[in-house]
Amino acid sequence: MPAPPASPSSAGSPAPAPGSGLPPARPGPRALPEAEPAALARSRQLQELILGRIAQAGGWLPFDEYMRLALYAPGLGYYDAAGSKFGPGGDFVTAPELSPLFGRALAVQVAQAFEQLPAQVLEFGAGTGALAHDLLSELQRRGHGAPRYFIVEVSADLRARQQQRLAGLPVTWLDALPEAFEGVILANEVLDVLPVRLFVCGAGGPQERGVVDGGGAPRFAGRPADEELARGVAAIEAEVGTLPEGYGSELCPLAAAWIGAVAACLRRGLVLLIDYGFPRREYYHPQRAMGTLMCHYRQHAHADPLWLPGLNDITAHVDFSACAAAAAAAGLGLAGYTSQAHLLMNCGILDLLAADPAPAQSGAVQRLLSEAEMGELVKAMALSRGYEGELLGFARGDRRHRL
Ligand SMILES: C[S@@+](CC[C@H](N)C(=O)[O-])C[C@H]1O[C@@H](n2cnc3c(N)ncnc32)[C@H](O)[C@@H]1O
Repeated sequence: MPAPPASPSSAGSPAPAPGSGLPPARPGPRALPEAEPAALARSRQLQELILGRIAQAGGWLPFDEYMRLALYAPGLGYYDAAGSKFGPGGDFVTAPELSPLFGRALAVQVAQAFEQLPAQVLEFGAGTGALAHDLLSELQRRGHGAPRYFIVEVSADLRARQQQRLAGLPVTWLDALPEAFEGVILANEVLDVLPVRLFVCGAGGPQERGVVDGGGAPRFAGRPADEELARGVAAIEAEVGTLPEGYGSELCPLAAAWIGAVAACLRRGLVLLIDYGFPRREYYHPQRAMGTLMCHYRQHAHADPLWLPGLNDITAHVDFSACAAAAAAAGLGLAGYTSQAHLLMNCGILDLLAADPAPAQSGAVQRLLSEAEMGELVKAMALSRGYEGELLGFARGDRRHRL
């Protein structure tokens, strides 16, 4: 999820959310490119499925369940359905799609880790396979032969595309996490597409935003937060102070669960998480009163996740303090935390660029490093078990104290 150009949708005033008892949703998408008839038909089919689930659930579905269906419903959800999601012809661009120098720079860190660890990589959510491709080529170029490369991918469509792109390379796709993995685990822009729960602070306690059948299409509606969500909001307030009435944001309990599952399968090695996000104090800053939930459609960002379900990416930033806490609870060490710009510069991306100064590459590297774009908005976190080596990617610009 990059920061694409501002959407035409960000003009105008928000429409009220009728009957929700919650603040109005942010402006919806208007004047965005039209979807093709086949895509619209698929979206309608997904919408019917979602409305069916709302009915089965008694008339209200929490937003995380809506987001899970919108992104991952078999054959219909955004990531599982066919269609080009990445790159200029898709909805958004990720770092490995922007430039092969991203994967080549990361290979420098991975190669250093291989001095102490078995030469194995496990990548989660490999998208088109671009990162695996560039990382493996650079490792081979650096004399690391053919390390074993495993991919865990939830999307059937993307898995098929990865298999095509990576044909002939030493890659194995796994249907489940291995029982005991030793090596380097990578996840680039995976945590930001895990389903999130939405809350809004109210006078009588937090409300949870979910969806109801708004007459043939899902619409937002709130209800009092359950104990788990209320506890989560209370824990945030204990750290950042009382949030004002009307303050809305997200919580991602799945991120902690995912880190717990990854920790359980990591016998020895390093986990590198790279994603849009902040430490908790910045995430739940009083001025960020509408959270970070964002959708991407044909290179436009907009803020209405209920619009054309299945045709938009839906993302939320990552609370890296929560990730560090989940890692500590699972027995992983916090080995590094910095910005993407620091990570890539520490790994020598500018030297790689100087050695391969294709004009398109310098613009892409600029975007990867720029403070106003991915360089600062995206963070990198290293978690470890039984790895005592240096981490050159985190050598300068360490921000662990900010978590
Ligand atoms: C925003 S894309 C990023 C793709 C790629 N890493 C890149 O940077 O170009 C998110 C990817 O994560 C996958 N994904 C989402 N949840 C996942 C999970 N729990 N386990 C594995 N893959 C997941 C999606 O199918 C998709 O491939």
